[in-house]
Amino acid sequence: MRKIPIILLTLGLAAYSGLTLAEVAGDSERGAAAAVTCNACHQADGSGKNIPGGESWPRLAGLNAAYIAKQLQDYKSGTRTNASMMPFASMLDEQQIADVAAYYAGLPATPGSGGESADQSMLDRGKQLARRGDWSEYIVSCASCHGPDNRGAGAVFPGIAGQHAGYIKAQLQAWQEGTRNNDPQDLMGSIARRMSDEDMHAVAVWLANQNSAAN
Ligand code: HEC
Ligand code: HEC
Repeated sequence: MRKIPIILLTLGLAAYSGLTLAEVAGDSERGAAAAVTCNACHQADGSGKNIPGGESWPRLAGLNAAYIAKQLQDYKSGTRTNASMMPFASMLDEQQIADVAAYYAGLPATPGSGGESADQSMLDRGKQLARRGDWSEYIVSCASCHGPDNRGAGAVFPGIAGQHAGYIKAQLQAWQEGTRNNDPQDLMGSIARRMSDEDMHAVAVWLANQNSAAN
């Protein structure tokens, strides 16, 4: 009986410090071993691949570890759905999720690939949306959440500069159609629903051509 207050105290402290009991520390060396099966798509350097007209594989190198872990948990639980990813996320237990997340987060960020060409006016439009937004369309700039150079801000806002154009566009379309809906606040859904196909293409190609790493 004397143990109960101690357990309650421990739980209380965990809640107070913002930790959840499910949180586990990742080990990037173990993560490298667990990531061998991921390399077929995400590549050994974590750079992923832009596949024009196909399913692009996102760059994971240099993304925030907590963001990566959350997405893997969501594929595993089915709150984020994708036929290519689901079987691979399901193979990982909590510890392996933390390990691969630490591994990819520790790799140097790699450059993106635009894949499709874009003319100057399209690139200018993409730059405007990414940096300043377009108040006439009620589109907030991407940088206001994704960080000044769109290279990410903490665990919640992933780096999108230097991500592959095909992947960025596919995600914007998924939010617009409601098929990516694992962010309870739906911050991206409310933006994507205001964007035209041309705007999605423009911002995706512009972002893909930006430097992904602070240097
Ligand atoms: C068959 C190809 C393939 C393999 C193998 C694969 N992935 Fe993926 N991965 C994808 C695709 C495609 C997406 C984008 C899916 C989507 O649109 O939601 C993705 C998305 C992700 C994301 C989300 C990235 C983001 O920025 O939100 C993470 C994290 C991830 N994969 C990790 C892994 C890990 C870890 C493994 C190995 C255990 C793995 N993947 C194996 C194809 C693959
Ligand atoms: C109000 C804040 C906010 C703004 C503004 C915003 N985003 Fe996001 N974005 C988010 C959040 C939060 C996530 C992570 C969603 C999740 O965890 O599922 C995200 C994720 C993304 C992703 C997925 C990255 C990945 O690795 O899977 C892409 C692509 C993206 N945003 C593109 C954009 C673009 C392009 C713009 C500007 C047109 C933009 N965002 C503006 C909040 C924002």
